[in-house]
Amino acid sequence: MSTSRRAPATATRRDAAQADPGRLTPLPAGEPGDDPAGKPAGEPGGRPPAASARGLTKTYGRGAAQVHALRGVDLDVPSGRFTAIMGPSGSGKSTLMHCLAGLDQPSGGTVVVDGTDLGSLGDDALTVFRREHIGFVFQSFNLLPMLTARQNILLPLELGSPRLDDAARERAHELAESLGVADRLDHLPAELSGGQQQRVAIARALITSPSLLFADEPTGNLDSTTSAEVLDHLRRSVRELGQTVVMVTHEPDAAAYADDVVTVQDGLIA
Ligand SMILES: Nc1ncnc2c1ncn2[C@@H]1O[C@H](COP(=O)(O)OP(=O)(O)OP(=O)(O)O)[C@@H](O)[C@H]1O
Ligand SMILES: [Mg+2]
Repeated sequence: MSTSRRAPATATRRDAAQADPGRLTPLPAGEPGDDPAGKPAGEPGGRPPAASARGLTKTYGRGAAQVHALRGVDLDVPSGRFTAIMGPSGSGKSTLMHCLAGLDQPSGGTVVVDGTDLGSLGDDALTVFRREHIGFVFQSFNLLPMLTARQNILLPLELGSPRLDDAARERAHELAESLGVADRLDHLPAELSGGQQQRVAIARALITSPSLLFADEPTGNLDSTTSAEVLDHLRRSVRELGQTVVMVTHEPDAAAYADDVVTVQDGLIA
């Protein structure tokens, strides 16, 4: 299938309904996901996309070991909305998220976030840009093992300004409380369950209030009750704070929390 000539994929509410029509709560008109002029974000005439990919390719390895993880992805992530990315294991979902977040360099194509072409930024500028605009919850958590949960959550703020104020500590506690891990803040990651580590990783990604949050299977290690709490939290941060959230999930129940669903298959948007 050629992606070069067709219009870029923009997730739609209908896509989400197809994922699980029974669970989707339609958004009432005029909520924060829509722009003040009343046009839905990400739709023609609405706000510009929070992130855009054009002709995005990513090839790992060389010769016979080459893997074409992304094969020319065109995608617009609508601003102020909750987008779910679904697709089979190995289809390129994590690779796409890493490239959109500037964590991994694509082999070809462009990524624009909040109007900035990530390819135009040097390493230092990209690090600062990511810190100021983007939060990322890794599929593998990536907590630093020698830091406590609290220190892990506060780390992105400390990297920005070495002296943390009380407000930052208060915010870390609030986030941990709302994610149900406040009583584990003084423990090391090795002393936490997988689900607790996952929730600490979510708190760490949210501590800077990023305008764009990527979460790679954020409920993969959670029971259904905790999973619902985390998904509610993400949905609230979209509705109430106007954040853009992009979440990879294998679970239709989780995707039903999203406004839009994008399916990745074999390195392309299906
Ligand atoms: N660092 C790497 N080196 C070589 N190949 C890689 C690397 N990272 C990913 N791949 C390959 O790229 C393809 C896409 O991987 P990716 O992790 O993006 O899949 P995914 O859709 O996130 O899968 P899952 O649902 O299992 O997390 C896979 O074939 C994978 O083996
Ligand atoms: Mg993955």
